[in-house]
Amino acid sequence: MKLSIQIIQPEKQPKTCLVVGIAEGGELTPAAKEIDKASHGLLTKLIKQGVFEGKMNQLLPLYHLEGTPYEHVLLVGYGKKEKLSATGFRKLVVNATKALLKAPQAVCFLTELPVGDKSLAWKVKQMTEAASDALYRFDLFKSEKEPAPALKEFIIALPDAQEEKACRQALQQGQAVAAGMTLVKNLGNTPSNICTPSFLADQAQQLAKDYSSVTVEVLEEKDMQKLKMGALLGVSQGSAEDAKLICLEYKGTTKQQAPIALVGKGVTFDTGGNSLKPADAMVGMKYDMCGAATVLGTIKALAELKLPINVVGVIPAVENMPGGTAYKPEDILTSMSGQTIEVISTDAEGRLILADALTYCERYKPEVVIDIATLTGAVVIALGFHATAVLSNHEPLSNDLLQAGEESNDRGWPMPLWEEYQEQIKSPFADMANVGGRPAGTITAACFLSRFAKKYHWAHLDVAGTAAMMSGTNDRMATGRPVPMLMQYLINRTT
Ligand code: BES
Ligand code: MN
Ligand code: ZN
Repeated sequence: MKLSIQIIQPEKQPKTCLVVGIAEGGELTPAAKEIDKASHGLLTKLIKQGVFEGKMNQLLPLYHLEGTPYEHVLLVGYGKKEKLSATGFRKLVVNATKALLKAPQAVCFLTELPVGDKSLAWKVKQMTEAASDALYRFDLFKSEKEPAPALKEFIIALPDAQEEKACRQALQQGQAVAAGMTLVKNLGNTPSNICTPSFLADQAQQLAKDYSSVTVEVLEEKDMQKLKMGALLGVSQGSAEDAKLICLEYKGTTKQQAPIALVGKGVTFDTGGNSLKPADAMVGMKYDMCGAATVLGTIKALAELKLPINVVGVIPAVENMPGGTAYKPEDILTSMSGQTIEVISTDAEGRLILADALTYCERYKPEVVIDIATLTGAVVIALGFHATAVLSNHEPLSNDLLQAGEESNDRGWPMPLWEEYQEQIKSPFADMANVGGRPAGTITAACFLSRFAKKYHWAHLDVAGTAAMMSGTNDRMATGRPVPMLMQYLINRTT
């Protein structure tokens, strides 16, 4: 689908589908007023008669408006004018776009809606990402595909040329973010019999083929043995799939500049290992590589946008299986850092592979390191599906990430990393244990990681609640988060 912005009035495009907003109570946006006038008060009449109330997410398609040149208008209710939130706006655009998949072309005037103090450019970026969300489907494995959407062109209407430059940039950024998110969704949704550690490595190689700004190196198990990555290899040893450490470099500037490192948990399937998960809890665990996918998606978005910044991606990719060769509770692993770890649960595997990946990051002398991981079920209990947990050893970094989340409509929420919590991961036999009991499970997991991130500024994003609907049976779907937050953070660093 072709997406563009155009300075345009409704009467200039009578043949395409016009998408216009109406507030609860019947107040018309400028584009709606135009159509109302041309149709001799049809919209006003529909509102008076109570056919259309303007309630949030209420949609009413109108065809061949009599006495006017308009052929197709989609009325979109957006509720009480002053109550339209950033997330509400995005959902509204997704719903409206889904409703016009049968129209070949649409001009969207939802840029006219008031969203707090958000700028026109902000709305353009959100609409770009929302349109891509609305069109997304994953039917690679369905014998009967849904027919492809008829919608071939989506025009975002601007009232005038005033903010055109900012809007053009917003469109570009939105398209890059959307491309990154689509990759993340596709990788997340691909089942683990196909999306293996080697498959992720191939995907990274493909990025390097597609973009000259990206290079890739894949470390094999023998390389990791040389590096003494005992924690990562411990997790992988029960699987028939070979572990990979996928290292990417995105060079967006020739300036001597320390890179930002992104580290993504790449557990292509998490059975729990010998601490086996109950059957119901295992459904959704193909998404346990969404951190890894986010690293690949963000690098794709960076390359699309040609953002002038240097970023490295490090992806520890493994499969967590039970069995006779698998690691066991009470095993003691020696990590690459030299610190020893007593395994209490083989289901707390994410932190083990991340530990070695974080140590490996030191060689890049990074400006900051951000890891992204579907790390704990506890974060879903704490924050539900709406916020990514942000934990960090450097407050300015976590503030920047929270701010970027707010700006990009992909929000995070902070959790403390106080030393008091470190007590919980003591072990009588090793330097630490890999679990800290049920209280504050998200924090103790981050405390564990912090012990491998002492040499740089570091933040941890626990995305178990936001990267995908990882539980339930029929509404599972990857979201593409937190690519928007990370991209906003990186964009903000370049301006
Ligand atoms: N991949 C899971 C975390 C998870 C759980 C993500 C549910 C999404 C939904 C992780 O590896 C895990 O199993 N964590 C354990 C940690 C526990 C053993 C300390 C958990 O959260 O139960
Ligand atoms: Mn696990
Ligand atoms: Zn896991």
